[in-house]
Amino acid sequence: MLKDSFGRSFPYIRLSITDVCNFKCGYCLPNGYQKNKSDNRKFLDINEIRRLAKGLSELGVCKIRLTGGEPTVRRDFFDIVDILKKQSGIKKTVITTNGYRLDKIAKQIAESGLDGINISIDSLDKKNFEKITGHDRLAEILKGIENLQKLNFKNIKINAVLLKGVNSSNKDFEAWANFIKTNEIDFRYIELMQTGENLEYFKKYHISSKILTNYLNENKWIIQTLGKDAGPAKNYINPLYKGKFGLIAPYSKNFCKTCNRLRITARGDLRLCLFGNTGISIRHLIQRDNQLEELKELISKQLNFKKESHYLELGNTGLTNNLSTTGG
Ligand code: 5AD
Ligand code: SF4
Repeated sequence: MLKDSFGRSFPYIRLSITDVCNFKCGYCLPNGYQKNKSDNRKFLDINEIRRLAKGLSELGVCKIRLTGGEPTVRRDFFDIVDILKKQSGIKKTVITTNGYRLDKIAKQIAESGLDGINISIDSLDKKNFEKITGHDRLAEILKGIENLQKLNFKNIKINAVLLKGVNSSNKDFEAWANFIKTNEIDFRYIELMQTGENLEYFKKYHISSKILTNYLNENKWIIQTLGKDAGPAKNYINPLYKGKFGLIAPYSKNFCKTCNRLRITARGDLRLCLFGNTGISIRHLIQRDNQLEELKELISKQLNFKKESHYLELGNTGLTNNLSTTGG
């Protein structure tokens, strides 16, 4: 099992398979995706991904989350899922998506063997959704979720970034509570994070998640204790609701203590932390099947460089210009 020098272990990898995204979320890609002119390396191909996943699984990784950008824009997206499911030894493959064509691919997703899906929906209000993401796609996304449910797909989660004055009122919280009352879907807010590019946006829209915890406490939601390969969310339950209401608060004290995940970018750089300054490439070791041992050794050694905390509270954003390269 992969371990760092602070005793944390890493059963969970977030693997970006493309930087490309078709949305324009104000906090991430306000002007849409732009090609990085100073980095013309291609995104990892399916064979590189296969070798990487095999090595990771031999290092004790049991869950891979495919992210982007928007992972489903890749034409070979379902081939990648298939290879991870059948040839990597990784037990769980899940994805994070903006859901832009979920209505159309729900059936393929259900049949792909994916073990879970996180969908980003920043608001249940059509106009508000469009304002935040630059796209009027809420109806299709909600339809996609309905389709998945009809196909009995389990483990659907929804994420929203908490934005001051945009989706942070009691009315917004209630809309989500209503949604998860009847839907067996976990919903969680993510506190807005500062990145290299979004300082002004951050200053304008960041709001402490305290307002949400206040709301949850007032409305009799009860905090749940964490499972072992759990994500970073603190979940609240309420017997009258089918879904859980969660919160990811990266600025909270001790957030990094339970870190159990590493990231790999779409061009094959290992990122020890979303906001870490460390980002060596492991790509040269996923070119041939016989490099597995070398790959495993490099990753294990790199873990010694993982820092105790992201130091975000000091305004340190590391290499992260925006989250489209590392998938949040
Ligand atoms: N702060 C918080 N969350 C972010 N995401 C993207 N950028 C940020 C940011 N600056 C979220 C997306 C999505 C997930 C992949 O990361 O909304 O839910
Ligand atoms: Fe795309 Fe996700 Fe960034 Fe929005 S947050 S622009 S959906 S990568």
